[in-house]
Parts: sequence; structure tokens; C-alpha cells
Amino acid sequence: MTPTWPLPTIAFGGDYNPEQWDRSVWREDVALMQRAGVTLVTVGVFSWARLEPEPGRFELDWLREVLDLLHAGGIAVDLATPTASPPPWLGALHPETLPVTSDGVRLTWGSRNQFSPSSPVYRERALAVTRAVAQAFADHPAVVMWHVGNELGQVDHSDVAAHAFRRWLTERYGSVEALNEAWATAVWSQGYRSWEEVQPPRTAPYHRNPAQALDFRRFTSDELRALYREQKAVIREHDAQRPVTTNLMGFFALADYASWADDLDVVADDAYPDPADPRALTDAALTQDLVRSLRGGQPWLLMESATSGVGWRAHDLTKSPARSRLESLQAVAHGADAVCFFQWRQARSGPERFHSAMLPTAGPDTAVHAGVRRLGADLARLAPVVGTRSSAQVALLWDWPSWWAARGEAVPTDRLDPLDTLRAWHRPLWDARVAVDVVAPTGDLTGYRAVLAPALHLIDDEVAAHLRAYVAAGGTLVLGPFTGVVDASTHLHQGRTPALLGDVLGAGVQEHVPLPDGGIPARWDGSTFGPGEVLVHDFVGHAEALSPETEVLLALGPAQDLPGLEHLGGAAVVTRRGAAWLVAGVLPEGDLAAVLHRALADAGVTPPLLGAPAGVEVTRRGDALFVLNHTRAEVHLDIADLARALDLDPASALLTDLLTARQFTTTDTAVALAPQDVLVSMETR
Ligand code: GLA
Repeated sequence: MTPTWPLPTIAFGGDYNPEQWDRSVWREDVALMQRAGVTLVTVGVFSWARLEPEPGRFELDWLREVLDLLHAGGIAVDLATPTASPPPWLGALHPETLPVTSDGVRLTWGSRNQFSPSSPVYRERALAVTRAVAQAFADHPAVVMWHVGNELGQVDHSDVAAHAFRRWLTERYGSVEALNEAWATAVWSQGYRSWEEVQPPRTAPYHRNPAQALDFRRFTSDELRALYREQKAVIREHDAQRPVTTNLMGFFALADYASWADDLDVVADDAYPDPADPRALTDAALTQDLVRSLRGGQPWLLMESATSGVGWRAHDLTKSPARSRLESLQAVAHGADAVCFFQWRQARSGPERFHSAMLPTAGPDTAVHAGVRRLGADLARLAPVVGTRSSAQVALLWDWPSWWAARGEAVPTDRLDPLDTLRAWHRPLWDARVAVDVVAPTGDLTGYRAVLAPALHLIDDEVAAHLRAYVAAGGTLVLGPFTGVVDASTHLHQGRTPALLGDVLGAGVQEHVPLPDGGIPARWDGSTFGPGEVLVHDFVGHAEALSPETEVLLALGPAQDLPGLEHLGGAAVVTRRGAAWLVAGVLPEGDLAAVLHRALADAGVTPPLLGAPAGVEVTRRGDALFVLNHTRAEVHLDIADLARALDLDPASALLTDLLTARQFTTTDTAVALAPQDVLVSMETR
């Protein structure tokens, strides 16, 4: 049986850490949660030392009391396995459970997360406490879901990890000979005689083997996933029903979440957009699209976010309640069925005492808490969207191994982070209100009018065949710079790149060229784009057309305009062969937008509400249209546009804003939307 999401409303709540407070506070917490409309809290994330004060001696009664209180108050519980922060006794008794950095420093207790994912002793103790909790509370009526660990993201280079890494490599390669081949150990005399000589990529005199580094990334992701899986399996021995998840961290560098998705009954994510970053909420939308796409569009849970500051940024800008509300509703617009915060009550002690919360230190009579109550009421009105999905005409491809390979040591430039490139390509789509899914390169591409692969550095035969078939079936494909350069073992594909797709593009790159500051000039062809000049910056591939059908739409300036790089004169930067596009360099924002908008328009992609002002985000989820005003000004929305975006007849549509219950028809004047306000319109029923 597939566990299903248990709540009929958008869940609202946060992490609750009652072990940090006296019993007397617990009742007040439940009463205040009720008043704020809280429906779900995550309990027990950091409770290991309280639950198992000495090895094998469990004290669970206090937690039962907490669950009873919450249940009596009508608040559901997402119960955590407390395995993220082992008690000091574990490290003291078993120092080999403590992780070691690549420099050989063993990390210690006194903070949190001090465990090696590969340590058999840690894993055994983690399963023991998981078993105790699952056994005791699987039947508790407050528990509606399970939360394994917390932000699984540890990495270890110890001997314990080395042992596990060798086992993982044995499974992958079978023999030391095959490993030597895959890691190309002929380079720099690295050939291994036996598995015992193989290590994690520890600090070394000079650059480390890129294939070894990439495999260690894969291994680390798999080890973290194994922790999740084995704790989930223990939970399943006691509870066959309720969904199990763990809180992800969006584009997190240490785990390939695409490979984890099958193990999550529901995807949960933690998000802390930086108020100091003017594009933070555009990027947040991208992360939400990734998170939603991990399980094919299934609604997901915003497991943690902040009502205001976070305490861990050097200069920690706070946010207004209006901004917090906007961020929360944005998550719902992008498919979230829960909005939760870290944490319910602001900590009094410890490193997170300056982190905002739903209930600030100054009490319930505060602006932040008033905002929390308002949000609780808003979310209660959004019950009609629970469980609904969205659809996109465009897929952005994202691949963790490509990220890892392109970010390795000794690559041509450190200015081409695949995540930055992905974000740069997504921004013009967000600006144009183009809905996107974020899909793995081997994912299902049927139904997308266009597939954009901004940073697919690593392409193997399988991915190449998949993309080739997609184009052959009529799809539009746009590839970005430094694409298709390496194989799954980081070896360079021979010939021009992207080697395995050169025939599809009718173009190829013969040299990867980091650019001097200030960039170099390129010219539009003057028919499809331009005329005009573009400054390509940071990086360009020395590309050329390889087929008569290939159009060169942007080419580098003539040789005399490229001092020191004269050999690039006239090189192609943007090419197109039918529906297959190559963007071989880093373009200024507006020029990249022009290319992508054109490719999407030619592919027949039709975004909603083209007439709305810039900074107004529009997403459709099920039968609801979310309009989010990210600007500092009131905007006016044409009701006929709203109706059209919902596939309704603009002449007769009658719409309701779920948040205000306000109704409007197309005979009304335009709807005004205040700065940072949100409209959720649906056909009146
Ligand atoms: C993460 C963690 C929480 C807390 C917050 C603070 O989301 O999971 O335990 O530390 O960060 O922002």
C-alpha cells in the first residue's frame, strides 16, 4: 500500500522541541498552537540523549506525555527518529563513530551531527533508538507521519568510511582492474594493487583524481540514503501505514536527491531564502519546482522555513511577516501541502537562541506571531488545493553527478557552477511566467514542449540516446555551455563536444575558453535576433556549425575585436538546427532571455498572464491560479486574463479568491493586489 498524506488541509506548524522546556510550558504551547491554527508539529528531532540517557536505557514516558497533550489539543505529530545528534556517550565510548574531515580532523560532540554515516556502531545504535521510538509510538493516535533523522548530510573520510567506500566500489566495479580502468590510474602512477590501498579522497599534495572524487560523492550520497532506508525499514516493522520522509535541502551538494526519491513516501524540504538576495524568491521557486518534480509532481511538504531571521548568517537580515507569508504561499503555489517552520517556540538557550520562530521570545503579542496567526488562517482557506498538481510545458534538466564533476578540482574555470547556470536559465522563465519541472536527464520527457539542459556537463550513452529520441519525437532541446564534456567516470569524450549529441545539434565545440574580465564581443546574426552586440562573459565554447542546416545565430566578433583570442573570430556561440539549440557561452541576462524566450515560443510554449507587470508570479495548481505580487507596488490584474489562465470563458467566468472569499466577474474592473500580497483564484463553485 502506498502511504498517503493524512491531513485534509494544508498542514501548518513546525519543529517542536519540548525537551528544551519545563513541563509547565507544554500546555501553554498547545493552547497557543491551537489559537494559531497549527495542525502538525515535528517532535523528537534532537531528543536522543533524553530518550536514551545511557546506552540501552530508554526513557520514553516524557515523550508519551507530549504526544498525549498534542493529541488532546488536536495537533498531529510528525515523529522523528532522533538520530541526527547522538549523545556524547556514543562518541566517548566509540570514537570511531565520529566523522573525520578530508584533512584528518576528527569532529567531536558539543554541537550536533557528529556521526559517520558509515560507522556500523553508529548505525546499530541509531536503529536501536529508532526501534524503541517506533515500537512505543507506532500506535499513538497523534502520530501521522515519520521523519527520519534531520537534513542527512554528513561526510566522513575516516578508516571506517574507507572500508565502506571499498565495499561500495567493489559492488560498482567488481575488480581492482576495473577500478584502475575507471579511475584512469595510469595518470600520475596511481595504479592500485588491492582494495586495501584505496582511500577516500583525503588531503593530498596536489590535485586529486577526479573519478575518485566523483565516486566518493556518489558513495556519500548512497551512504546517507542507506541510513534513511534502514531507519525507515525499522519503522515499517511497526507501522505499515503512515508516510515516512526525511527533510531535504533543495539543491544540496552532498546528496543526489533524484536517486533518493523512490524511498520517500512524500518529499519534504527545508528552505531558508536569504532576504538580502534580491533574486532569492525566484531561486526559491526553482527549488520548489525541483522538490515537486522529484516524485513526479506529487505534493510535497515545506518542512522547515523561518518566520524571520535565522541566526546562522553573518549579517542576518530579518523579514517582515508579509514577506514570510508570501514565501509560504509561494511554496503552496509550487505544490506544497504543508508549511512548517523551524521552530515553534524560539529557543531560550543554545546556538539557535537568535533564530526566529512561530512564537518569539517576546511572546504571542508580537508582530511575528500575529503574522503566524494570519498565515494559519490563510492556509486553512486553501483546503481546496490540497493534493492537487500542476503541469509544465518545459523541463529543466538537473543532474547531481554533472554538478559534482563540473565543480571538481582543476577544471577550466570556477565561474561556471552548474547551479548558478541553472538559476540563470530559470530566471527568464520565471520572469515570463513559464511553468517548469526540474527533471533528471534520464527522466520522462514525454509531454514537454521544450527541454532545457543548462549545465549537463556529464552525458553518457543512455542520456544521449534519451535526448536524441526526445528531439526525434519533435521536442525542442536547448543545451548550455560546457555540456556533454565528460562521461560517467569524468573522462573527456573524444572529439568536439557535446560529443554524443553533435549530430543532433549539427554543431560542436573544439575548445573550452574561460574569458578575461570584461568579456568578449559577439554579434547577433541580424535575422532571428538583433542586429547588435553582446558581451559574452566568463566562458565560451569555441563552437562551429557542422551541418548545412545549422544556423549560427550569435557569433564571436571578428578576429580584430578579440585581441589575444583572434583564433576565435567568427566562432559560433548560439546555434540552432531545427529544434536543437546550443548556447555555448555565458550570455548577459537579457540576451540569454531573448534566446530562451525565442526557443520556447517556437516550441509553442504559452505562459499565462503575459500582460501582468514584471515581478508578478503566476502559477497554476489544479483548478487554482496563484498570483503572487513580489513587487513593492500595488498591481492590477485583468480578470479576463485570470479566467483565461484557468481555461475559463472570460466572458462568463465567475471567480473567487480563496484567501479573501472575494468574488469577481469579468464585468468588474481589474483586481488590485497589494505589494507582497497573494491572490488564489478559482472558479466560483
Ligand atoms: C535546519 C535544521 C534545523 C535548524 C534550522 C535552522 O533546517 O534542520 O534543526 O537548525 O536549520 O535554520
